[in-house]
Amino acid sequence: MAHIQIQDLNKSFGDTSVLRGIDLSIHEGEFLAILGPSGCGKSTLLRIIAGLETHDSGHVRMGGSIMDGLAPKARDVAVVFQSYALYPHMTVAQNLALPLVMRETTRVQRLPFMGHISSVVKRKRVDIQSAVERAAAQVRIAELLDRKPAQLSGGQRQRVALARALIRKPKLFLLDEPLSNLDATLRASTRTEIVQLQKRLGTTAIYVTHDQTEAMTMADRIAIMIDGRVAQVGTAREIYDRPKDVHAALFVGTPKMNLFDGRIDGGVVRLAKTGMVLAHTADAIDGPIRVGIRPEHVVLKTEFDEGAIPVVETHREFLGSEALIHFGIGGGAPDISGVARLDPDALDKLAPGQTVSACFRPGGLHLFDQSGLRLELSGENLSPAATTALSDKETALDERPIPIIAGI
Ligand SMILES: Nc1ncnc2c1ncn2[C@@H]1O[C@H](COP(=O)(O)OP(=O)(O)O)[C@@H](O)[C@H]1O
Ligand SMILES: [Mg+2]
Repeated sequence: MAHIQIQDLNKSFGDTSVLRGIDLSIHEGEFLAILGPSGCGKSTLLRIIAGLETHDSGHVRMGGSIMDGLAPKARDVAVVFQSYALYPHMTVAQNLALPLVMRETTRVQRLPFMGHISSVVKRKRVDIQSAVERAAAQVRIAELLDRKPAQLSGGQRQRVALARALIRKPKLFLLDEPLSNLDATLRASTRTEIVQLQKRLGTTAIYVTHDQTEAMTMADRIAIMIDGRVAQVGTAREIYDRPKDVHAALFVGTPKMNLFDGRIDGGVVRLAKTGMVLAHTADAIDGPIRVGIRPEHVVLKTEFDEGAIPVVETHREFLGSEALIHFGIGGGAPDISGVARLDPDALDKLAPGQTVSACFRPGGLHLFDQSGLRLELSGENLSPAATTALSDKETALDERPIPIIAGI
């Protein structure tokens, strides 16, 4: 059974429906990222799991037990917020000790002099002290224990918040955009550290973020959340290769997947603007569709094969290990634009503003119906990249630098 189970969870604030029938299962020891744009309900969901917010209907189960209505401290859950939420008047050591002091000692035992007159209290304080030192060592802040939060950098404060979360050895970590106040370099290194720490401790973690890189690099699985619903749950690879709808397709991948208007007529899949034939299907579905293709599956060539689309480069970006060519389709004043990812060496072979031919790599097509849902059709060249044979992929990679060189 899943460690955490969220079942048909609904929440409204007044007339605004914020969570709409959320279903999610998280395995023991798993690192699940909840990825979605700002305002889609991520924090609300996390707060409900933590018991900091009530829900209108549905259930949250942990280890099979229903958590609905339980106070946060009865849930064995630790939360790390973006704001760190440290007590400014306490030292780091005191901030770390606080959750244990509150859990392990009574109000009377917390009186300062009790450490001198009670051996029980004395032992508890020694235990808490060593737990503080252990937690501080785990996130490498041992030398900061006597400082106050104001004397720490953002990254150090964030570590203190992490140490405070893990000191209680909770069954579940909930992290709400914990890295968003850090600069890019620190964010990248802290990402790795958090994942390593979580794997070492084996504690289940739910990590909320709007940053696809964080979700893709850290999580075992990602739940894409759009507008109060879970659009898709899967590994980064699964979502990237087979997005279940247009939102998931656009939310994962940089630059975004190209989306064009298309049509299916009598088993022929075409690009609407140019009529270019993209694929054939045996399925009897006719009508307008959306055609998605990731930038690395667009091939640019200087020779014009039959069926290729003439495109004009509008803008180029050199990014070191790769280059992006933004293009317009249809000549004249193009009203459809797209982007192709290619090897940076290929840039030199292409004059800015030149008209080249674009075709789509077989197997890289994603088709969506008008409501945005993925269409799974049977037929030629319709399987997404993930399901193409490895040999096809290898060829695809080998081919990558070639398109623009060919014919020049
Ligand atoms: N306590 C609240 N009262 C009223 N509206 C709220 C409250 N908390 C969140 N909301 C609203 O719910 C929506 C989702 O918010 P939130 O869960 O914070 O989204 P996210 O974390 O994905 O950015 C937003 O429109 C927000 O304004
Ligand atoms: Mg939030």
